[in-house]
Amino acid sequence: MTLAELIARVEQRFSAAPLLYGHGTDNAHDEAAWLVLRGLGLPFNADLENTAADVKRIEGLADRRIKERIPVAYLLKEAWLAGQPFYVDERAIVPRSHIAELLPSFKRRSIKRVLDLCTGSGCLAVLAAQTFRGAELDALDLSPGALAVARKNVARHRLGRRVRVHRSDLFAAVRNVRYDLILTNPPYVSATAMGKLPPEYQHEPRMALAGGADGLDLVARILAGAPEHLTQDGLLVCEIGDGKASVQRRFRGLKLEWVKPEVFIARRDALPSASNMPAGARARSIRSPKKQ
Ligand SMILES: C[S@@+](CC[C@H](N)C(=O)[O-])C[C@H]1O[C@@H](n2cnc3c(N)ncnc32)[C@H](O)[C@@H]1O
Repeated sequence: MTLAELIARVEQRFSAAPLLYGHGTDNAHDEAAWLVLRGLGLPFNADLENTAADVKRIEGLADRRIKERIPVAYLLKEAWLAGQPFYVDERAIVPRSHIAELLPSFKRRSIKRVLDLCTGSGCLAVLAAQTFRGAELDALDLSPGALAVARKNVARHRLGRRVRVHRSDLFAAVRNVRYDLILTNPPYVSATAMGKLPPEYQHEPRMALAGGADGLDLVARILAGAPEHLTQDGLLVCEIGDGKASVQRRFRGLKLEWVKPEVFIARRDALPSASNMPAGARARSIRSPKKQ
């Protein structure tokens, strides 16, 4: 059987199953090609007329994708973002942040220190280090499992000298440090949406997804803490998924700039100091994230 035939066979099985895409691909064909080619250790531009080496193994992985609804990234222990490969397993969310594609647009600024808050697999810290070649980076997360994955990726991309990975409850480990750029893709799924998570998402750590009642518990704490950690011209870049309306409701009064429907940026002077944070944000900002 050729690679093309195997891909077509897997695609057909995926199309006939109630699968949900969104962890690296958005359709059955791309998902099948990814599973077959990378499952066989081949590059994406392999000659599809070549014979497929280990059909049984790929069929086994396709079975698990269909029956257990495991994202391909977890089956292969590999995800791709902005053309770069990352190691990933169930301790960290599958990399897919919209912030990745925005990084080159911040290159005009003078960026010496970058913080990747809620780093997960470390994907944004790695991509930021590759984009801002002279910058020093801190990559923080509260989950020891996610940090182990992030360390693997920092080592894999040979960035250990510039990217420091630390365990931290948001800004706790970097008191008194200011950054030119703070990137964050925090947990932001509301309690209602958490109750209806499709099976693929249930393989990801709850702690990486759950953001409290309206999804904004962590975002509120980040907005409250960011002014103390941004340089004069510093920028906060925050991903919020489909929570734009909730953010606009809860933080009305803050000058947030929406660079994509899922991502806002805030300059330091647009963020209030903790003492004059909007009441709703302040009241909820002291809550710790739920233990998952
Ligand atoms: C949506 S994931 C984002 C991961 C990564 N930045 C990405 O884009 O793939 C959110 C991450 O926030 C971490 N997290 C949750 N609560 C946290 C907290 N209080 N302080 C720091 N990190 C936290 C989770 O462990 C998870 O890795």
